[in-house]
Amino acid sequence: MNVLLLGSGGREHALAWKMAQSNKLSQLFIAPGNAGTSQIGTNVPLDMADFKQISELIVDLKCDLVVVGPEGPLVDGLVDFLTETFPSLAIVGPKASGAQLEGSKAFSKAFMQRHGIPTAKYRQFTRDQMNDGLRYLETHPLPVVLKADGLAAGKGVIICSDTSEAKKEFEDMLLGKFGAAGDTVVIEEFLDGIEFSVFVLTDGKDYKILPVAKDYKRIGEGDQGLNTGGMGSISPVPFVNEDLMNIVENEIIIPTIAGIAEDGLEYKGFVFFGLIQVGGKPIVIEYNCRMGDPETQSVMPRLKNDLIDLCLATTKGHLADQKIQIDPSTVASIVMVAGGYPGSYEKGKAITGIEGHEQGIIFHAGTKISGGSIVTDGGRVLAVTSFGDTIEQAVNYSRQKAAEIHFEGAYYRRDIGFDLT
Ligand code: AMP
Ligand code: GLY
Repeated sequence: MNVLLLGSGGREHALAWKMAQSNKLSQLFIAPGNAGTSQIGTNVPLDMADFKQISELIVDLKCDLVVVGPEGPLVDGLVDFLTETFPSLAIVGPKASGAQLEGSKAFSKAFMQRHGIPTAKYRQFTRDQMNDGLRYLETHPLPVVLKADGLAAGKGVIICSDTSEAKKEFEDMLLGKFGAAGDTVVIEEFLDGIEFSVFVLTDGKDYKILPVAKDYKRIGEGDQGLNTGGMGSISPVPFVNEDLMNIVENEIIIPTIAGIAEDGLEYKGFVFFGLIQVGGKPIVIEYNCRMGDPETQSVMPRLKNDLIDLCLATTKGHLADQKIQIDPSTVASIVMVAGGYPGSYEKGKAITGIEGHEQGIIFHAGTKISGGSIVTDGGRVLAVTSFGDTIEQAVNYSRQKAAEIHFEGAYYRRDIGFDLT
């Protein structure tokens, strides 16, 4: 069968790499893709906001299965549009109603409250309620977490350790700092614990749990400095043992999937549970309606199942028949970024030394082919992913390979996994 995978990041290279191993695959198209995906499939230029262009691609390329990588088009209703246009097309990704779990923090908080799913205490305020919100902040314990309701390119969460700073940020958000995403702001209790990422595939009734991972969001070693899209990931996560996973499944995953069905949300796709362990208990920080990046780069190499089979079972409502098989190895991914990231950075730097990684895979993110060679084309440039028997070994392999890869201004964290060993 022909598959169309939408997206251009490291997550999509990892999904493409995994799908390319399936004997069900005839042709794999990645739109728009990156230099890495062009080596395992066919890249197709695409403006992701142009749903009509996507539907034309599906016809022209005779695609049987569409997998949507990023959240933007899901929240904007791409799956609704495609389902209406092609009622029998297999599509992995929720409709807009289900994607609200990521697209609206206020929606997801209300969902969790309604279904008894553990999450931080919160209140939400619109612009009309700004004064109520400012008063609420006066007595709120510190630190306090402010969240723009809508999608804000990963920047919409601000943690404040000072009341006057929190009041200023709160006002700025309601007055348009993040555009319409901040028309409603959630004020939330700060949770102090260790985070981890759980992924499931659901067909709306049943679910299958994929390998657990942990990502590293801060730019600096020791988890210091600015937030990024993700500087590395590890799978599995040693502290997420069977007991903890049982609680996650019973108190979080099962009520979430039941809640999706009960509320009539239309959901056939990945659910990403951003969790935090506080005093031995898992609590939901956020939902995402897609796979994580850079977690996917460490999760897919451990998944033994045929990903196309899993995708088809998801779209057909047959997930209950699938059995997930996981490689017990540890996988570590180290993300190499452009100098200056997450601030401003330059593109178009020649990349050398990426060939041949015996201990794993190099997943591209912000790369493209220019004049026959591979150059940087984004802030997060690539992930060096390695298998190992332990976290130390997998991270060491990735560090060794990263040291052989060169582009002007390249930076990566050498301490991925530091808190797990
Ligand atoms: P998001 O942009 O929604 O992925 O959130 C970004 C990050 O903010 C999360 O991964 C957490 O590290 C942090 N965060 C969000 N909510 C809370 C909370 N209630 N307590 C502590 N940290 C939080
Ligand atoms: N790694 C976090 C995310 O994909 O949102």
